[in-house]
Amino acid sequence: MPDGPMAVTSGALDGIERVLSAHLRPGDAVAVEDPGWGSLLDLVPALGLRAVPVALDDDGPLPEATDRALREGARALIVTDRAQNPTGAALGETRARELRAVLARHPHVLLVEDDHGHGIVDLPLRPLAGATTHWALVRSVAKAYGPDLRLAVLTGDTVTVDRVRGRQRLGPGWVSHVLQDAVLHLWRSGAVDAAAVAGAYGRRRDAVLGALRERGIEAHGRSGLNIWLPVPDETGAVARLLQAGWAVAPGARFRLASPPGVRLTVSTLTPDDTGPVADALASVTGPVPAGRYD
Ligand SMILES: Cc1ncc(COP(=O)(O)O)c(C=O)c1O
Repeated sequence: MPDGPMAVTSGALDGIERVLSAHLRPGDAVAVEDPGWGSLLDLVPALGLRAVPVALDDDGPLPEATDRALREGARALIVTDRAQNPTGAALGETRARELRAVLARHPHVLLVEDDHGHGIVDLPLRPLAGATTHWALVRSVAKAYGPDLRLAVLTGDTVTVDRVRGRQRLGPGWVSHVLQDAVLHLWRSGAVDAAAVAGAYGRRRDAVLGALRERGIEAHGRSGLNIWLPVPDETGAVARLLQAGWAVAPGARFRLASPPGVRLTVSTLTPDDTGPVADALASVTGPVPAGRYD
């Protein structure tokens, strides 16, 4: 995690809301990944902000799409470093360098990084932090240690973190030390074997992605819990998959301008599920082009 002062918030979404509120005003535009995390796409308009979609591929936000959004006036950019929800994208070294160069041309943009994949992915963090004056990197413990802990840590530049902590003091005050101590204990006692978790999710994702490829279908899932499958008709796909015994999330929840898809969560799949789930998924899509989602 990059160096900086720290704050503790009640989860990633709470942290992101506090960082956005520290710098932005209603009506401001915020560049977000498309497809992206549904709760974030709901939060942006709930704060009176305007979401500007940025297309991505397996390496994260596309540099030219990011640059366009920032040139068009987005005041903030929110990027998921790893285990992007719903596509599994993860910033590679080259993409991170390209995005840092884009951000260097827009130093007044507020950069918010979401590293919720920490502890469940084996790809290194390639932070963009520091490319702009104001930034924050948020790390929820939800995925690695449990969503009910309701805790995230964030770091950032001094002004941003001071504002977040000052405003937090006027509301909930702080995140309960009972919870903070519980998380500290989990960290110190090595309760989660990150490599084992990443390996298990990786095997399940790769098995399904490989089985789909054998059936002529290119889906996405470089890291994390999810596979993103482009389909021509989301509603029909969800209904037909449910009939076959598979629950997937309709892509509409995660999309602004990007084309339809469904999200499959692999966390509970067993090796015996691979063939049947790939057959079911193959029945709701045709061959689709690899690469970009837009
Ligand atoms: C992209 C992303 N970030 C963060 C989180 C965790 O959020 P929180 O800590 O608010 O529960 C999730 C959970 O689904 C997520 O998908």
